[in-house]
Parts: sequence; C-alpha cells; structure tokens
Amino acid sequence: MPKAVSLFSGCGGSDAGVIAAGFDVVMANDKLPYARDVYLANLPATDYVLGDISKVKEFPNSELLVGCYPCQGFSQGGVRDPSRRINTLYLEFARALHTIRPKAFIVENVSGMVRKNFKHLLEDQLKVFTEAGYRVKAEVLNAANYGVAQERRRIFIVGLRNDLGLEYKFPLPTHGPDQMQPHASLREVIGELPEWPEGEFYDLDFHWYYLSRDRRRGWDQTSKTIVANPRHMPLHPASPPLNKIEHNVWQFAHEGRARRFSYREAARIQGFGNLQFPDTAPGSLNMRYTVVGNAVPPPLFEAVARALPAIWD
Ligand SMILES: C[S@@+](CC[C@H](N)C(=O)[O-])C[C@H]1O[C@@H](n2cnc3c(N)ncnc32)[C@H](O)[C@@H]1O
Repeated sequence: MPKAVSLFSGCGGSDAGVIAAGFDVVMANDKLPYARDVYLANLPATDYVLGDISKVKEFPNSELLVGCYPCQGFSQGGVRDPSRRINTLYLEFARALHTIRPKAFIVENVSGMVRKNFKHLLEDQLKVFTEAGYRVKAEVLNAANYGVAQERRRIFIVGLRNDLGLEYKFPLPTHGPDQMQPHASLREVIGELPEWPEGEFYDLDFHWYYLSRDRRRGWDQTSKTIVANPRHMPLHPASPPLNKIEHNVWQFAHEGRARRFSYREAARIQGFGNLQFPDTAPGSLNMRYTVVGNAVPPPLFEAVARALPAIWD
C-alpha cells in the first residue's frame, strides 16, 4: 500500500477517503483534541500527532501528502479578512512538501478562494507549490456530483512531482441529471434515522438571521451545505417548508415541529458511514458539529485520490 501523510486532518473526512482509495495513512496532525478523539475512534491505525503544525519538525516518508488547511479567511460564514495568519498556514503545508517530497499531494479548501479579493492567496499557493517542484492543477468540485447527498463546492489543488512528467486530471462527475446515477437524496442517507433524536441536535431558536434565507430541502433532494457552526445548520426535511415573505425574510409555511440536522445526520450527509463520537470530556454537542462540518466528504476525497495516476511502485 502506498503511504500517505495527512495535515489539518480534523476528524478524518479526507483521510477516510484516502484510505478508501487504497492508501495507508501513516501520520495525521491537528491541534483540536476532540477531532483527534473522533478520528482515532474511527481510524485507529493512524499515528495521530496532536498539536500546532508549526511545532511538528519531522514527517515520515510517504508517497502522498494531503492537507486541508483552515478556511475561516475565505468561507461564507467566516471573517473575510485576507490578511489573517490563518491564511498563511499553506506555508506549513509547503514546508512538509519540501521535507517529504512525495510523488503527489492533494489540498482541499473552500471555493471562496477563487473570488476576486482572495485570488492572490490562491495564486500564492499555486506559485509556492509549483516552485516546490510540482505540476499543479486546481478545480472546484461539487460533492453532490460524486455521490454525496449535499451541495458542497470546494476547491482541490493537486500536484504531481515534476520528474514524473505527468498531468493530473480531475475525476469526472459520476452523479447527477446527465450521469449514470442520480444525485443522492436525504432520504437515502438519513431516511431511517429517528425523527426526533433528543439531545443530538442544536435546539435554540430560529433567529431572524437564520430565517433570512431558505434553510430547508425536501426528502428527495440533496442537502444544503453542512456547516461547522450548529446555529447555521440546515433544517431537517420533517420540518415545515419555508416561504419567502420578502427579501431576506422567510417564514414557516405552517405550524409544526422544526429542527436543524443532528450532528449524526450531518455526518451521514457528509458521506461518513456511522461515524463514532467518543464521549471524551471536550466532546460537547457543538464540538461534534464542528468536527463534522469541518470535514471533507470522504467519497469526494476518495474520488480525487483515485484519479491520481498509478505512480506508486
Ligand atoms: C478544514 S478542517 C480539516 C478537516 C479534515 N481534513 C477532515 O476532512 O476532517 C481544518 C483543520 O485545521 C486544524 N488547524 C487549524 N490550525 C492548525 C494548526 N496551526 N495546526 C494544526 N492544525 C490546525 C483545525 O483544528 C481543523 O480541524
């Protein structure tokens, strides 16, 4: 099995995809203790180094390096400040790239990076990785087109080491109206779960900001994007539909119980199977939502990893 090293590994969404694509993840790193706990409860074979990446000085040899450095600077929900330190964490990824010199690397990040005011940050990343000796390609992919029951557009940056003389090609969509298989629906992934899983969903009021847009999709649709902040989690399809009253004002169409997705449903919608959530002390409800919402859908990462050329012997 070819070996992979993973950085900014979170609870292991990207790594579950890498493992499914046939790699052995020999090291993972993140600074969030509960992310480590969830990761190891589900993927126990990996050596998970807990701590700030800047303190990690050694990396094992590997053929593949993957990493999803954080995105607060670019994401719709986060503070859009292109100058924050968080936006330079890709340099830590580049440091690992220089040290390990794997045959290939895969990066995932929020698609907001292609917007005009952040474009220079994306260009910096492409430049740094190209100068490290890689042929680099970037593309925005929608998880829904790869069998995930969720609209989730993310940018992937893939590099192949120059000496291989090869060009990476992104995987073509496999699911959707023009594909062999239809988009996966909410019914398929959460249909058989309990309708009111008390204690497993964020149960605070729907404030005006929440109701400033349509937060609900029906059972036979794909989900809206699963986010890390539970307050903004989309509505479960058993909730009444929302009607638009005026610009940025939506209202429930009728009386009835309404709730957000539970963290367990969110994990299913992200494309995890039955993700295990250990009861370790920092594992509050919010923390469970956070690690799930931060994750890369495993089937999407798997598709990107499987599209790498056979360069491992
Ligand atoms: C987008 S999430 C990664 C998700 C993960 N790849 C997955 O699929 O589950 C980004 C992660 O970077 C971690 N992180 C942020 N700054 C870090 C740092 N300085 N050192 C290590 N990890 C960091 C966060 O804790 C967060 O889990």
